[in-house]
Amino acid sequence: MLRRISSHLNQASYCLRALEGFSTDATTLSSFSKEVPQFIAFVLGGPGSGKGTQCSKIVETYGFTHLSAGDLLRNEISCSSKNGSMILELIKEGKIVPSEVTVKLIQKAIRSGENHKYLIDGFPRTEENRLAYERIIGAPPNLVLFFDCPEEEMVKRVLNRNEGRVDDNEEIVKKRLQVFRELSLPVVDYYLKKGILHKINAVGTEDDIFEQVRTIFSVYEFDRFRDQVESNELQVE
Ligand code: C5P
Ligand code: MG
Repeated sequence: MLRRISSHLNQASYCLRALEGFSTDATTLSSFSKEVPQFIAFVLGGPGSGKGTQCSKIVETYGFTHLSAGDLLRNEISCSSKNGSMILELIKEGKIVPSEVTVKLIQKAIRSGENHKYLIDGFPRTEENRLAYERIIGAPPNLVLFFDCPEEEMVKRVLNRNEGRVDDNEEIVKKRLQVFRELSLPVVDYYLKKGILHKINAVGTEDDIFEQVRTIFSVYEFDRFRDQVESNELQVE
């Protein structure tokens, strides 16, 4: 119940931020044109692998802003945007929304945010997603986390989580797992070969899993990015 309320609150806040984005386009664009460095972490893993739960812990501990691609898309449905009904049909089938739509939502959320470190959860789901991001945003992520979880465990978690999602049922979870195997695992492989992917064993308690995240995050200097942002701002003034 609490989770459902919190998910509705999240959706409402995304709606508000989207509206704010329209009214403050000039300021958000100018902060982008300063080319402020961002620290971007992609968070990958199948449905029910614990991405969202661990992202909340990362937000609390390291001050990242959490952008879930799935939440951004669901928000478009609840805001009745022009793509809302197309997105709903695809989500109901466990299919992937055209990359351009998802990347533009991510871009808008980063532009209207005030942070310099972002977790982008559930993205990229396909090679096409990855290429569209690189084309539109113009830079690869700084690091990629991959929550590795057996399929049986993922199915169990999704069917037990009760968040009121249209796609959390047995039939669609099977389809989502198939999409994950066929389209998302090649992306995981790509980042592994690039040397920026960190694999996490996603079975265990939330705290055990977060200890692995801590070990990975301890070697990154996020504040170097904040310092650059601040010195950029000083130069601009
Ligand atoms: O990540 P999450 O499980 O919330 O995603 C729910 C659905 O949103 C996916 O099954 C898919 O239909 C859609 N999605 C997408 N592209 C992404 C992320 C999510 O099409 N990058
Ligand atoms: Mg999620």
